[in-house]
Amino acid sequence: MRHFLKETDFSHDEAAAVFQNAANLKAQRGKLGRGTLDGQTWGLLFAKSSTRTRVSFEVGIHELGAHPMYLDQRTTQIGRGETISDTARVLSRYIHGLVIRTYGHEIVEEFAQFATVPVVNALTDFLHPCQIYTDAFTLAERWAKPGQRLIDSLKGKKLAYIGDCSNNMANSWILGGAMFGMKIALSGPAGYGPGVEIRKQLANDGLEDNFLFTTDPLEAAADADVLYTDVWVSMGQEAEEAERLTNFKPYTIDAKLMAAAKKDALFMHCLPAHIGMEVSQEVYESPASIIFDQAENRLHVQKAIVSALV
Ligand code: CP
Ligand code: NVA
Repeated sequence: MRHFLKETDFSHDEAAAVFQNAANLKAQRGKLGRGTLDGQTWGLLFAKSSTRTRVSFEVGIHELGAHPMYLDQRTTQIGRGETISDTARVLSRYIHGLVIRTYGHEIVEEFAQFATVPVVNALTDFLHPCQIYTDAFTLAERWAKPGQRLIDSLKGKKLAYIGDCSNNMANSWILGGAMFGMKIALSGPAGYGPGVEIRKQLANDGLEDNFLFTTDPLEAAADADVLYTDVWVSMGQEAEEAERLTNFKPYTIDAKLMAAAKKDALFMHCLPAHIGMEVSQEVYESPASIIFDQAENRLHVQKAIVSALV
């Protein structure tokens, strides 16, 4: 049984094939017949809010021929204490795959342990692998030379991640970046740097932890091909909001920070965004900003991820 809980659940060559298939699905959208998931039902079990992930999975699963069933976790029996192991075993008797957005990463791992259908991580507190595959694909679409595998165009490129360097997006860039051969530099306040868990994950996957973490955003942004940011307050951290908004103030991606990067550097954000906080209005709306291409590509890349699991 294949699951996609973290970036490294596919080998480099399998990820390369996911990217190529995503490009094909994007080019052929609306022209291909339905197919890969014909007649199936996939569950989308969400314990947190979502716009992009929910809609792109619902549409993508439908386009692959299956029925997507959205399950708000609070209205399932999990909300009243039913165990993950029982929920996974019961749901596996009805559905053909499960897409999960939740808090602790150990929850998706437990689902994967007990489910007899593929499980896809649609964001945990630790990782957001569907987003990172999509973002890497979005960059590769721009960078790949004719005839080059999309994934190979990422090698050696520098991505500077500015903001909360201890959250799921930072972790996923550390892991995905190492897998894709990219240089990852992160910058945020002291106390919000990459934690021990992501270093352990790199070691488990045989990847080097050669990313840079600095409290100086100009140092991280220097000569970067991409500047990336995310919210300063992730879902589940609402109680820390006031403290975080103060601590992260020096880490807005603005024109000055963009000027430290390469001339043709791109701006990315997984969204939702808070303009005037993690990014200035000027950068957000500039030609360097490819945020809506990222959002669109969630659909194509996730269709390719799901197709690779069945
Ligand atoms: N980027 C992302 O995962 O967006 P949603 O929270 O809207 O799904
Ligand atoms: N770090 C953010 C990502 C949202 C897509 C969060 O977990 O809320």
